[in-house]
Amino acid sequence: MVAPLAASAASASPYAAFRRLQRGKTTSSIGVGVVGYGYWGPNLVRNFAEQPPARLVAVSDLSVERLTNVHSRYPKVKLTTDFRDIITDPHVDAIVVATPVSSHFDIALRALEAGKHVLVTKPITTTRQQAMQLIEAAEQRGLVLMVDHTFVYTGAVQTIKQLVESGNLGQLYYYDSVRVNLGLFQRDVNVLWDLAVHDLAIMDFVLGQRPVAVAATGAAHIAGHQVNLAYLTCYFDGSLITHHHVNWLAPLKIRRTLIGGASQMIIYDDLEPSEKVKVYDKGVTLADAQGALESMIGYRTGDMWAPQLGLTEGLRVEAQHFLECVTHGRQPLTDGHCGLRVIGILEAAARSLAQRGQPAELLADSEADGSAGVQIRGLSASA
Ligand SMILES: NC(=O)c1ccc[n+]([C@@H]2O[C@H](COP(=O)([O-])OP(=O)(O)OC[C@H]3O[C@@H](n4cnc5c(N)ncnc54)[C@H](O)[C@@H]3O)[C@@H](O)[C@H]2O)c1
Repeated sequence: MVAPLAASAASASPYAAFRRLQRGKTTSSIGVGVVGYGYWGPNLVRNFAEQPPARLVAVSDLSVERLTNVHSRYPKVKLTTDFRDIITDPHVDAIVVATPVSSHFDIALRALEAGKHVLVTKPITTTRQQAMQLIEAAEQRGLVLMVDHTFVYTGAVQTIKQLVESGNLGQLYYYDSVRVNLGLFQRDVNVLWDLAVHDLAIMDFVLGQRPVAVAATGAAHIAGHQVNLAYLTCYFDGSLITHHHVNWLAPLKIRRTLIGGASQMIIYDDLEPSEKVKVYDKGVTLADAQGALESMIGYRTGDMWAPQLGLTEGLRVEAQHFLECVTHGRQPLTDGHCGLRVIGILEAAARSLAQRGQPAELLADSEADGSAGVQIRGLSASA
């Protein structure tokens, strides 16, 4: 039932792909191969299978059982347990990497070197060094490298971005997120690299600013497993501060973010079926108290309103955007540099976590952090 791809022809020249990109793609469809069909891969496969100009060509997974599931839904799609079959398939133009984080770099780099455009799930890699290598490999060949920061493509986050950019919130004071639930404990990354990465990607998009330093604390409660609960604070120039609380050991699922500005505040609750985003016209005013040393604080409570949000599935919007970028040779909204910025915060957080919350400055892109590959694990509980 599971048919491996036929021994393929030599991989397409990367420079041929570059030239095709420069011209704009002339063929009517984009051959897509997906590597990884575990929990998240099926969502990507569905979105690429359902929309032109994508043509789902092949899926790879180490598990024959998972491939059997693909076959029952997409009987014409080629299947293989060896992702290199997809990378060397001349009918594949773009590769979606949906495997565990530790394998992203190897698969994505091989794909780029074979002249394929790449969409890789979050976080892009396990180190900044690796992310920089992928960016360079894509840029040298004129290929699209995009990272699956899914929430950036949702109606809620797009609306929040517009609200922040409109200036109606006034000076931004804080961004405060809670993302907790029971499980899934990941094997190769801790909770910051699994859950906080979503908030850092949203924050990167909405605020458009990089933190200068971070502080992280956390704990590993389950023997033999990594940090499952963490609190991450990001410090920016000025008084803007962000805080991210993530936990795999919570009885309830919570996905709530508060964004506070001098004039208005936002509550974003991703679990709300409708009205995920609410804008509160609330704040404080300062009045000079005559003769007093301190000014008097007054409280302003105005209306609350819930903006209308785009309802299209974020992943569908993202898949369309990836295909457009491949077709027209555009830089994606969540390109390799976005992935790199998020990894920079996660690496600094790992340094801080290992020092029990000592603030860690963010390194410039050119600065190497030799121990980052080890630090990704942070603290882990002893058996
Ligand atoms: N954007 C989101 O909301 C979101 C949600 C969940 C997961 N993710 C991301 O998706 C990725 C995958 O996570 P998951 O939860 O689906 O993991 P998973 O463990 O459920 O699935 C990964 C699959 O990849 C396969 N695989 C591993 N190495 C492979 C290889 N070399 N070749 C082919 N197949 C291989 C495994 O057999 C497995 O079926 C991760 O990067 C994760 O962070 C994103």
